[in-house]
Amino acid sequence: MSSPPRIAAIIVAAGRGTRAGGAIPKQWQDLCGKRVIDHTVAAFRYHDRIDTIVVVLNESDMAQAEGFRAQGCLIATGGADRATSVRNGLALLDGCDQVLIHDAARPCVPRAVIDGVLDALADGPAAAPGLPITDALWLGEDGDVAGTQDRAALYAAQTPQGFATAAIRAAHAAFEGTAADDVEVARAAGLPVAITPGSADNLKITMPGDLTRAARILESQMDIRTGNGFDVHAFGPGDHVMLCGVKIDHDQGLVGHSDADVGMHTVTDAIYGALAMGDIGQHFPPSDLQWKGAASHIFLTHAADLARSHGFTLTHVDCTLICEHPKVGPHAAAMRDVMALYLGIDADRVSVKATTSERLGFTGRGEGIACMATATLVKL
Ligand code: CTP
Ligand code: MG
Repeated sequence: MSSPPRIAAIIVAAGRGTRAGGAIPKQWQDLCGKRVIDHTVAAFRYHDRIDTIVVVLNESDMAQAEGFRAQGCLIATGGADRATSVRNGLALLDGCDQVLIHDAARPCVPRAVIDGVLDALADGPAAAPGLPITDALWLGEDGDVAGTQDRAALYAAQTPQGFATAAIRAAHAAFEGTAADDVEVARAAGLPVAITPGSADNLKITMPGDLTRAARILESQMDIRTGNGFDVHAFGPGDHVMLCGVKIDHDQGLVGHSDADVGMHTVTDAIYGALAMGDIGQHFPPSDLQWKGAASHIFLTHAADLARSHGFTLTHVDCTLICEHPKVGPHAAAMRDVMALYLGIDADRVSVKATTSERLGFTGRGEGIACMATATLVKL
């Protein structure tokens, strides 16, 4: 089987957003707690088929470059018009077979729109999403309707527009004049461009009020997940237990391959569960000697980092320890603080509570400690 194509995304963000208004250009304005451009970059960064991202910034916005570089993006400097900005982005690409060119001003681009373009590139050198026009079209003159226009074959052009890299580079090099988008440049070079499904959600923030619409769209796309975890460790010889990162003196210890912190293990599993990415035993096999006696915050931090690297924010963790002894209450506040530290969230988003099982079952007989936990992840 041949290897999959290497795919780049160029996000053009060098415009000044004059039509949208506001104190700063639209790509830097706030949208649901992040900047518009952060949503746009995230849509490509967390896409598993995309290898390289180039962000094209206006030269007066270069103070923002480092933040994108830290995320692994390349930075190009924009030009006086969009086509120049695209060309400067293309110049940075090295070894990418295909390129998606996308407006930073389209932060709500659905995954299906990106995939539609990528799938079509398997069959041709260029593809771009279009949305069939559904409203009737008029020609206007001095405020009056001067004619109507057949809409049957008309589409609203969207991005990302996808190309074989070599073909669009050559097309841009040969193009003279101004172009509305890269499809126009490609067609001028004679490239056939396939139309793939666009989406009404793929709004380009252009006019005042579009930010509010974009916020509504993003909220409707919000991905909220919960995961649960459950774990048990048996008591054995020892003089302390580790619970949620806190060392508690006790007349027994907990048996386990690592430090046997049943609380942290359970929360770790809850996060993997929310991601639908396996469990702690898969990520840290007990058969692997390097985890012998390991501090369990290593596992917890791995799960939290994995969530972040897939674009999720960990919004809440709730964990219930089930045992007769030791008493958890006096340590609960410290446990919340320690777990919050390793999870990288505020302590008021971490709940640690405990219950006995009324002396029933293995926890009631004092044979071990059980724990259950729920984690909530949100991608917006
Ligand atoms: N763009 C760019 N370089 C330019 C002009 C535009 O990178 N010289 C980018 C914009 O930042 C935007 C996309 O191209 O992400 C689409 O352009 P448009 O919606 O027209 O954005 P602006 O040019 O910023 O807005 P306006 O035309 O209202 O000033
Ligand atoms: Mg413009």
